[in-house]
Amino acid sequence: MTHNLLKINWHHWLERWDAQQSGYLPYREERFQIMLDAIAHLLPESFTAIDLACGPGAISQRLLNRFPHANCIAIDYDPVLLAIGQGVLGTMGDRLRWIEADLTQDDWLDQMGDTQVDAVLTTTALHWLPIDRLVRLYQKLGQVIRPGGVFLNGDHLYFPPHLAIIQRLAKAVQVQQEEQSFSVRNQEDWQQWWQAIAQETELKALLTERHRRFQPRFTEHEPTLVIHEAALQEAGFREVSTIWQRFDDRVLLAVRW
Ligand SMILES: C[S@@+](CC[C@H](N)C(=O)[O-])C[C@H]1O[C@@H](n2cnc3c(N)ncnc32)[C@H](O)[C@@H]1O
Repeated sequence: MTHNLLKINWHHWLERWDAQQSGYLPYREERFQIMLDAIAHLLPESFTAIDLACGPGAISQRLLNRFPHANCIAIDYDPVLLAIGQGVLGTMGDRLRWIEADLTQDDWLDQMGDTQVDAVLTTTALHWLPIDRLVRLYQKLGQVIRPGGVFLNGDHLYFPPHLAIIQRLAKAVQVQQEEQSFSVRNQEDWQQWWQAIAQETELKALLTERHRRFQPRFTEHEPTLVIHEAALQEAGFREVSTIWQRFDDRVLLAVRW
């Protein structure tokens, strides 16, 4: 880490990140816990997991704290969020490795080497990918997760169009929830968080790089649950099912053949 980055209070930004994310997802911690409960039942004490699209490493932090014999590989493409995660968590006693890679490209796998893992966990992230890239990513996960290993995705996985009333209900609940957080309780939202961190002059270069990497890529599309399930089955996952749900916010579990 360069000298000027040592001045940044990474813990402060991580706390604000978690608060901001919980504004969108009041059950965020419960969702993490369900994912880790599944891991506790399905994997041996010692295992290797990937925290996919890790941001500042929310899953890595909670997973490595809960499972002292586990290792984790945290992958993301955002240089600012990665810097926060590395600044707070470091390597967690040589058990956490960080990879900077774009998940829409296949070369993130090259950076992994020949490593096969027992689990891949991801939260609030894969909706960022265009559907063709999501399907491709699931194919790659089918290769990188060992037989018997698991994939867990915590995210809004939308109801299909033919369930239009239920789809609208889930959206209305989400909108109301966000109003509660950001208007009534005055919680900082995503945009305000990014505006605030942009004031850190030492982060200017990383913020510029983030802007370059992500700006043209933001996509507005909503892959439904059915698309996730079908793509995972196609990629070699045997049992695929929702194991936790609040309207369309779910944890999807898939077990590799
Ligand atoms: C809302 S954040 C969630 C972060 C973290 N999983 C959490 O729950 O706090 C979405 C993450 O997806 C990452 N992401 C989006 N597109 C990506 C891509 N093409 N390659 C790698 N990471 C990506 C973003 O950089 C960001 O860290």
